[in-house]
Amino acid sequence: MSSDPKASIAQMEKIVSLCKRRGFIFQSSEIYGGCGGVWDYGPLGAELKRNLRTAWWNTMTREREDVLGLDASILMNPAIWKASGHVDTFADLMRECSLTNKRVRADHVDPQSGTVLKYSGAQSPTGWRWDRTITALTKSGEHIESFRKRIRALIAQNAGESAGKPEEIELIGEEKIDAVNGSVDFHPETGGMLGEARPFNLMLKTYLGPTATEDDVTYLRPETAQAIFAQFKNVFDSSRVKVPFGIGQIGKAFRNEVTPKNFTFRSREFEQMELEFFIKPDEAVEIISGEVAAWHEGADLSEPQPNWGWELWHRYWVDQRTKFYQGIGLGDVLEYYWQTPADLAHYARACVDILCEFPFGTEELEGIAARGDFDLSAHQTASTKSQEIFDEELKTAAAKLTDEQKEALIQKRLAAEAAKVKGEPMPEAAVRAWFERLFKGSYVPHVIEPSAGLDRMALAVIAKAFSETEKVDEKGKKEVITVLRLHPRVAPIKVGVFPLLKNKPELVAKAREVYALLKKHLNCFYDETASIGRRYARQDEVGTPFGVTIDFETCGEKGPELLDTVTLRHRDSGEQERVKISELLGKLLPLVS
Ligand code: GAP
Repeated sequence: MSSDPKASIAQMEKIVSLCKRRGFIFQSSEIYGGCGGVWDYGPLGAELKRNLRTAWWNTMTREREDVLGLDASILMNPAIWKASGHVDTFADLMRECSLTNKRVRADHVDPQSGTVLKYSGAQSPTGWRWDRTITALTKSGEHIESFRKRIRALIAQNAGESAGKPEEIELIGEEKIDAVNGSVDFHPETGGMLGEARPFNLMLKTYLGPTATEDDVTYLRPETAQAIFAQFKNVFDSSRVKVPFGIGQIGKAFRNEVTPKNFTFRSREFEQMELEFFIKPDEAVEIISGEVAAWHEGADLSEPQPNWGWELWHRYWVDQRTKFYQGIGLGDVLEYYWQTPADLAHYARACVDILCEFPFGTEELEGIAARGDFDLSAHQTASTKSQEIFDEELKTAAAKLTDEQKEALIQKRLAAEAAKVKGEPMPEAAVRAWFERLFKGSYVPHVIEPSAGLDRMALAVIAKAFSETEKVDEKGKKEVITVLRLHPRVAPIKVGVFPLLKNKPELVAKAREVYALLKKHLNCFYDETASIGRRYARQDEVGTPFGVTIDFETCGEKGPELLDTVTLRHRDSGEQERVKISELLGKLLPLVS
């Protein structure tokens, strides 16, 4: 990212423009003026997203023995959102501009300085009156007349036609109130005084059923995770798995974001790729293994171990997710933010945000949280359906403990509860009841949750891959060439297939043959128009990592040894090599998967 804000904006504009021009991402409903915070993926964007989705799904479920997949519905019983806490607490604190009613997130108001002016109201020759106190801040360096003009325009905009022309609006009873320094009480755009901060729920409401009354209200899911918790028991009972194991899901999520921004980064409709990885409570690990392994810098995270508690599992998933990002070309633009105890929700034990460098700043790509048994326990309480599992190994190990050993475990937990800095400590009777169930082999599993956003990931790979180089053509004319250096694994088109000349039927026929051979296995693009250099450049611009050119050598015109060979061009190195058609697929497949 450039440290120059203008350069960062320019870079972002180029990316947005490329995405539209080459069919990666379009504004939703563009012909009707758009739809705020909602985006559509064009032909190349759809392929890119599909590749990212497949990479996540294969890495997180298919290639593992301990993770299963789920594809749950977007609409669910609203009781789920009550139990999860989303109905009551999934909100941003918002403040409203007293001048325009425009809302802003309370934590998005930077301190401002200037002079505060107050008016007792406004009126216009149309007879329109506004009997409301108007308090606003002059922007730094703003002339008083420009300020008045701006306030009139804002009032006119808000009042509609009844107020008449902005320049005819009279601001009544002007008073200079104060000079303020570093105030966060004025709207950053309008300068109007802000009201009290109020929670604004981010869930998108809808109605289920034809009557559309308040009784039919439900929500478009704001995260995919809750469906995994709600189906935990069904998956567990139907799949012959043992804890630790995970359930992964990819799907749409919806949030009525107050300020969708930075292209697709913060959207109102987006896709999540979430894993809920269920683990034994640390006490169960201690009973079975005799100890819970402690994490230390350099700890071996390559293979999960039976004595891992939540901390090592959490570190393991941070490591696994980092490896995933390395595998799609984002390894060198990642940073980590370990939430402090003050940042953490009361039920969370740890949470790390994997951040990525975007042109507009270093921002969250994925969150990995250790959420204890909060979610399953909340659904157990609200639904009154047990979310406990039975662990034979635990029961057998617990049966071998003496009463003193059991009491020592209980005392250790009671001390931990007493030392809690957030949330209420569990009462002693509840702790003892919990251990009683644990010693019999029953518990509600704890969870580690790596939660990634697909749209952010797509934007991250495009932004990382975007590069420009200056080229001078044969006539000495300078030209800026865009190359999207996408990792071959995620690139929407893997191979461009080109006959050297389109007016040579033997070259075209051979190129079509090669295209037919490759396209069964790889997304390819056949192009016979324009010069070969222009065709390479078109594919470079959309990130195609390989080009195959069928030339006269292929048809045997330069000797039998080159018959049925093609030129394989590598986008990033510019290297060109001769490859036998019969060996082409075998060479390309490992490079793109
Ligand atoms: N279940 C946990 C959860 O939903 P989150 O941090 O709110 O946690 C997880 O979301 C990920 O989903 C984020 O790291 C981000 O990649 C993606 N995400 C969240 N809100 C988004 C939005 N408005 N637009 C695009 N992606 C979003």
